[in-house]
Amino acid sequence: MSATSPLITLDTCLELDRNDPLREIRGRFSLPQSGALHFDANSIGAMPKDAPERVRTLMEDGWRELSRRGWAELDWLDKPRTMGAGLAHIIGADPDDVVVCDNTTVNLFKMLSYAWRNRTSGNTILTEAHNFPTDIFVAEGLQDFLGSAGQEMKLDLAETPEDVMARLGDDTAVLYLTHTDYRYSRKWDMAALTKAAHDVGALVIWDLSHSAGAVEVDLKGCDADFAVACGYKYLCGGPGSPAMIYMHPRHRASSWPTIGGWFGQADFMAFKHRYDPAPNVQGHNTGTPSVIANEIFSCASDIWRDVKAVDMVAKHKSLSQTVIALLDQECGDLGVEVISPRDYDQQGGHVAFSHAGAGSISEALFARGMICSFRKPDSLRLGLSPLYHSHEELWRGVALLKEIIETETWRDPQFSKVAI
Ligand SMILES: Cc1ncc(COP(=O)(O)O)c(C=O)c1O
Repeated sequence: MSATSPLITLDTCLELDRNDPLREIRGRFSLPQSGALHFDANSIGAMPKDAPERVRTLMEDGWRELSRRGWAELDWLDKPRTMGAGLAHIIGADPDDVVVCDNTTVNLFKMLSYAWRNRTSGNTILTEAHNFPTDIFVAEGLQDFLGSAGQEMKLDLAETPEDVMARLGDDTAVLYLTHTDYRYSRKWDMAALTKAAHDVGALVIWDLSHSAGAVEVDLKGCDADFAVACGYKYLCGGPGSPAMIYMHPRHRASSWPTIGGWFGQADFMAFKHRYDPAPNVQGHNTGTPSVIANEIFSCASDIWRDVKAVDMVAKHKSLSQTVIALLDQECGDLGVEVISPRDYDQQGGHVAFSHAGAGSISEALFARGMICSFRKPDSLRLGLSPLYHSHEELWRGVALLKEIIETETWRDPQFSKVAI
C-alpha cells in the first residue's frame, strides 16, 4: 500500500456495508451457517433462501400430485423465457432477447454454429489463445465437423487486444471471446472490439460467464450479436444450472437454429411436423427444460428482477477496490501480489493474486472455513458477489490469509495435496 493511501480498518468496512445499496438483498440468501467465507462466486454462487422450499413444493405439489398435469397447470415450460426476461437487464439486454436453457458449452456451440451459418464475410473464427478450454474445444469441434462436410473453417488465436485488432480483417467471420479472463480477471473492451469486428463485417459472440451478475455489461449498447453465460456462477442459479443465451433481434429468423428441437418451435404444443422455429432467441431453446434446475434458478432470477444493474456495478466495484487495497495493505509485504487489473474498468468478476505457496494456502484457508479457488501455477481467485458479500467479510478473509502466511501454517504437510 502506498504511503498516501488511507488505512482500511474494520470500521471502514462496516461503514461501507451500512451504505451498501444491496444490503437488503443479502438477506434473501442462505449463507453458510458455520460463518464460513465463500469467496467463490466465480465458481458457484450462493443459495437463495427460498430455494429448498420451492423445490420441495415443486416435488410434492407438482410432481407427486399433479404429475403430467404439471406441464399444463404450472409454469414449467415457460421458465426458459421468464427467467431470461428476469435476467436481461443485468447484461444490458431487452427481456425478449434472452433465454435460459441447456449448459454454457452447448449454448456456445449453438451460437457459434449459428453465427457461422449467418456470417456475411470471411471464413475465420478469431478467438483468444488463452480462452477457457470449452470455448476452444467448441470451435475446434465445429471446425472438425465442417471439415467432414467439405467446408473450411479457419481458427485464429490472438493473445492481446492489440493482437485481436491486428488480426481482424476481411477473412474474419466471427470474433469469439470470453469477456473476462477466467484466470486473471482481465476484461476485454467489449464496445471497442465489437465495433472493430463489425467494421470488417464480422459477427461477435461474447462468453459472459465471468462477467454476468458482477460487472457492467451492455450488450445492446455495444451492439453485440450473441452472448452466452454460465448460470451457476455470479447469477446464483445453483450447481449445474442451465445457461443463458442472448441474441440481438437483427438475427431473428436468419436461419434455422443449429439444433432444431421441438421447444424451439414457434408453437411447440401444436405438434406440427413441419419445423417452424420461434423467430427470436426462443428458437434456440431445444428440448424439455430442466424443470427442477429451473425452479432453483428462478429463485435467483426473481432476486435479480429486484436488482438495478447500476447498484450491482457500484457494489462490485466497492468490493473489488476494498479487497485489492486490503491485500496490498495487509499482505503486500508477505509475497502476495494482486495480478488482476487494478483499473476497475478492466477488471471482471473476481480478484486474483499470486503467492509462491498459493495451492497450499488455498488448502489451509479451506481448513479454516474460507473458500477461494487455486489456479496453477501460483494464483488464487476471490469471486466477489455484489448480491451477498459484505466488506466486513473481506476484512475477515484477508486477516485470515495474513495469519496463514505469517505463521507459515500453509507449509504444514497436510496442505500439500492441492485440490483444483
Ligand atoms: C468462461 C467459461 N466458459 C464456459 C464454461 C463452461 O460452462 P459449462 O460447464 O456450463 O458448459 C466455463 C466454466 O467454468 C467458463 O468459465
